[in-house]
Amino acid sequence: MLPFFTTLTSVKLSLLVFWYSLTDMRYSVSSVGGLAILLASSLVDVAKCSNTLLPLVFEPLPLGSVTAEGWLQDQLQLMSDGLAGHEHDFYLFVSNSSWLGGSSEYSNLNEGFPYWFNGLVPLAYSLNDERLKTQVLESVDYVISHQQNDGWLGPETDVNQRNLWGRFPFFLGLTQLVEATNGTDVSTRVLDSMHKFVELMNSMLEDNFLGYVASDTSPIDDQWGRSRAADMILSLQWLYEHDPRNDTDILFNSMNLLFEKSNNWAHWYTDGVYIKQDLDTVPVAITNANYAFEHGVNVGQGYKYGAVVRRFNGDDSLADSSRRAVNWTLTYHGQPSGVMIADERLSGLSPVRGVELCAVVESIYSLNYLYQALGDASFADSAEMAAYNALPVMLTPDWWAHQYVAQTNQPISHTFDETPFYNVDKEGQHFGLAPNYPCCTVNHPQGYPKYVSNSYVRYGDNGIAHALLGPTSVKTTTKSGVSVSVSVDTLYPFVYELTYTVEASDDFDFYVRVPAWATSSSFFSINTGPHNSVIADSSTAMHHIPLRKGRTTIFYSLTGDIRVAHRANNTVAVYHGPILYSIAPGENYTSYSANYPGAPSEALEYNIYPTTEWALAIDPSSLKYNGPGFGASLSNPVWTLNAPPVSISATVCEIKWNLVDSYAPNPPLLANRKCVGDPFQVNLVPYGSARLHIAEIPTISLS
Ligand SMILES: *[C@@H]1O[C@H](CO)[C@@H](O)[C@H](O)[C@H]1NC(C)=O
Ligand SMILES: *[C@@H]1O[C@H](CO)[C@@H](O)[C@H](O)[C@H]1NC(C)=O
Ligand SMILES: *[C@@H]1O[C@H](CO)[C@@H](O)[C@H](O)[C@H]1NC(C)=O
Ligand SMILES: *[C@@H]1O[C@H](CO)[C@@H](O)[C@H](O)[C@H]1NC(C)=O
Ligand SMILES: *[C@@H]1O[C@H](CO)[C@@H](O)[C@H](O)[C@H]1NC(C)=O
Ligand SMILES: *[C@@H]1O[C@H](CO)[C@@H](O)[C@H](O)[C@H]1NC(C)=O
Repeated sequence: MLPFFTTLTSVKLSLLVFWYSLTDMRYSVSSVGGLAILLASSLVDVAKCSNTLLPLVFEPLPLGSVTAEGWLQDQLQLMSDGLAGHEHDFYLFVSNSSWLGGSSEYSNLNEGFPYWFNGLVPLAYSLNDERLKTQVLESVDYVISHQQNDGWLGPETDVNQRNLWGRFPFFLGLTQLVEATNGTDVSTRVLDSMHKFVELMNSMLEDNFLGYVASDTSPIDDQWGRSRAADMILSLQWLYEHDPRNDTDILFNSMNLLFEKSNNWAHWYTDGVYIKQDLDTVPVAITNANYAFEHGVNVGQGYKYGAVVRRFNGDDSLADSSRRAVNWTLTYHGQPSGVMIADERLSGLSPVRGVELCAVVESIYSLNYLYQALGDASFADSAEMAAYNALPVMLTPDWWAHQYVAQTNQPISHTFDETPFYNVDKEGQHFGLAPNYPCCTVNHPQGYPKYVSNSYVRYGDNGIAHALLGPTSVKTTTKSGVSVSVSVDTLYPFVYELTYTVEASDDFDFYVRVPAWATSSSFFSINTGPHNSVIADSSTAMHHIPLRKGRTTIFYSLTGDIRVAHRANNTVAVYHGPILYSIAPGENYTSYSANYPGAPSEALEYNIYPTTEWALAIDPSSLKYNGPGFGASLSNPVWTLNAPPVSISATVCEIKWNLVDSYAPNPPLLANRKCVGDPFQVNLVPYGSARLHIAEIPTISLS
């Protein structure tokens, strides 16, 4: 199939190819309209024959350019000292993985090691942590030196039993490793190995989609890979842009083939197909038929599908499908913390239902990518929301234990009497080593490290931009070659002030993003003077600050107000800046050993019980923001109860709202809400710091 993509006769042939895919049940095409679609799309098909990629709005920087500071550096260090940094020592699905010569796997997908690797590479190199770098390098050395003769990476020897999916996260890890080790023997060896695999994968896809779609010769139907095709296409695009060698045609051909048999997210995100209702109220035949698109982790990974495919096939309508993906997910199945509600499968909007930790970290990664690819500021706002709320709340402050699912209203964390979830067990909401299923034990480490490495980007010919605000510094060059180092001093997202010290070898363009929540913003720099009410580009929200060669100090400051979002059944979610606030009862932690062979004593399972009343209703007219005091500082760990120096005070009263099956059910409806005591004041605190929380708070009038 390869050669005809490069000739003019490809117009006809690609028409055929496209017709073939139209009849492949992924599209429903009706006669005349279908023909119009077909012709328009086939023209786009011609464009893709040119083997070029549409540019990204912002270019990512190589891993290692960005380092974390302050509280975020402390978080990465806690990860290194915690579970993420010790799985290679004792956690069998990593330490004794079939990829490393052992036989410990939690499923025949053999994905445990690839997931871990994808997170450990950016953790090791962002922290510059020698111990973790050794884990990464020894592992990759083992895997590459055991690459099979035909190019296959991984333990599967039976050609007809191979499944591509596990290679997707492994390749994402490899691309990052090459960036971090650019110019060394390691990067050359890894690239050689990647090319060898890519050539094999291309021949497999050409051979009746072996390893991807079931056929007469192979039973393997790679449903995960077909739902997550964008993750592999992303690595192929990276290879094309960094080290294409003689494989350009193969890379583009494989992108097309992976796309051709992928589960088509662009189709799913159309009116009439997408399920906007609570899925529990939809006939099972319909939800089952669409399960690939309803699985929460797939949804998080699938956010970026449209934007990734658009780059090589030139179909601009795909940008809108990624926009709809995020918007519809958060509108119809969203938690107020900025992620989807999906306890394996999307549900609806009930605060009882949960979000899976894997879906949280995949969402953050996809949102970072979408901001880079399409430039819409809302993706960056959503990425910050998830990174500063949904992620930290699911780990214990020491990063040794995590939840599988987190509920929006979660006044207790323990083994439930009955599960309220679609397909998560009674253990899935408590904090431990591997509650419910091991995937989040191995996949959670990518969250913060990738957030850090994507927080700065190249912009235009001579620009560097701070895309995701937070304590991160960068040392890099602009596209045109100006050396730039930016170091930042900030307590963001708790304090909305960032002080940058910039050194540049020549004049360059510095940019800072202005978040959508900011009611005003200002900055002052020595060589450009004061600017009040910073004007940002309306699409990217980037504010341009031209800087001269040499050293400059910039002071950037934002203000915000309390924001109240109205949620289902007369409840509210309360925000200030990028932080969601919640009612947080006092916490009584009790623990027991994870009882895992070889695990250190820090590997504990927890029950967390409330020590103060949580069944409260709030009067939203009473909210008052308690900002950080002058000279505020942050303690380490910061994501723990009462550590952040900010809160919102509110007048509340106790209502009748009891646990059912040992979790909090939906709040009582407005008509049944009555104070059972006198009103009093509480402080709402950042959600990410409150393992026990009520974040969709029932309202009541107390005036
Ligand atoms: C590790 O893998 C080996 C196979 O290489 C297997 O024999 C052994 O039982 C595994 N170890 C554990 C603790 O599961
Ligand atoms: C490695 O560095 C060279 C020179 O700076 C650059 O052109 C190339 O793109 C880099 N490769 C990667 C994978 O970052
Ligand atoms: C690429 O192809 C050219 C011409 O066929 C060949 O001379 C060269 O060795 C190839 N390079 C690699 C890296 O395979
Ligand atoms: C979704 O898009 C609509 C229309 O642009 C907008 O009003 C709404 O705020 C968006 N919602 C989310 C959750 O992004
Ligand atoms: C709102 O309350 C009704 C009645 O109790 C309930 O059926 C519905 O699931 C609730 N909606 C949400 C999103 O929690
Ligand atoms: C914490 O919970 C345990 C178990 O329910 C209980 O025995 C203990 O008294 C509680 N401690 C406090 C301080 O509430």
